[in-house]
Amino acid sequence: MPDGCSLPDRDANGAVAQLGERIVRNDEVRGSIPLSSTIRVRNLVVTEPVFPRFSAQRTLSGPDETSRLGARLAAILRAGDCLCLSGDLGAGKSVLARGLIQALSGEADIPSPTFTLVQTYHFGPGHPDCGKEIWHVDLYRLDSGAPAQWEELGLAEAFGTALVIVEWPERLGSLRPAGSGDIHLTFGVREETRIAQIQTSGEMAVRWTDFFC
Ligand SMILES: Nc1ncnc2c1ncn2[C@@H]1O[C@H](COP(=O)(O)OP(=O)(O)O)[C@@H](O)[C@H]1O
Ligand SMILES: [Mg+2]
Repeated sequence: MPDGCSLPDRDANGAVAQLGERIVRNDEVRGSIPLSSTIRVRNLVVTEPVFPRFSAQRTLSGPDETSRLGARLAAILRAGDCLCLSGDLGAGKSVLARGLIQALSGEADIPSPTFTLVQTYHFGPGHPDCGKEIWHVDLYRLDSGAPAQWEELGLAEAFGTALVIVEWPERLGSLRPAGSGDIHLTFGVREETRIAQIQTSGEMAVRWTDFFC
């Protein structure tokens, strides 16, 4: 008897399938993310992968909480990842980046890269990526889509080898890597409140779901 014969004739809501109707069943689930689903159309049964996505929202009631969110992210980021931090001036991108870099590198002094465009650090002792580079990039002063400036920065080479943390990622244009982790910060009702919209997809979504959920 083929596997599909054991599939129920009801969907997840208990509705009875009509002849020829599709039944979709999430087979493999990690956290709340389905990794594959089985589709049955009459006697034809197909299992196909589902592209994982993750999104969450956090309210951060002061700079310390934003910094702490950055420090917590140290547990789920590694060399080869790209973390995009977007939001208006003063939204808290650098505060979050500083918390993350301090946790990963052990460095106390994390200057803003607003004028230098890039500051580099290294993963510290005890981390599996010890010695590999961490790039903190602020593209606020960079002209959008100016290829010569990208080449000068060496950003294309850093993607895939270093952990790259990018402020103003909108200016990356076509250089923005697929499957990056995205955090968008906005101002809350109170002066010291920020809202973080956290999103990612693909392999990183699985990692982040395990962590946040
Ligand atoms: N919840 C918060 N999270 C982060 N920063 C906050 C928060 N509340 C107030 N602030 C203040 O807002 C400013 C954020 O600055 P910064 O991180 O440099 O912004 P950005 O890099 O987004 O331009 C800091 O002066 C910080 O003290
Ligand atoms: Mg900044």
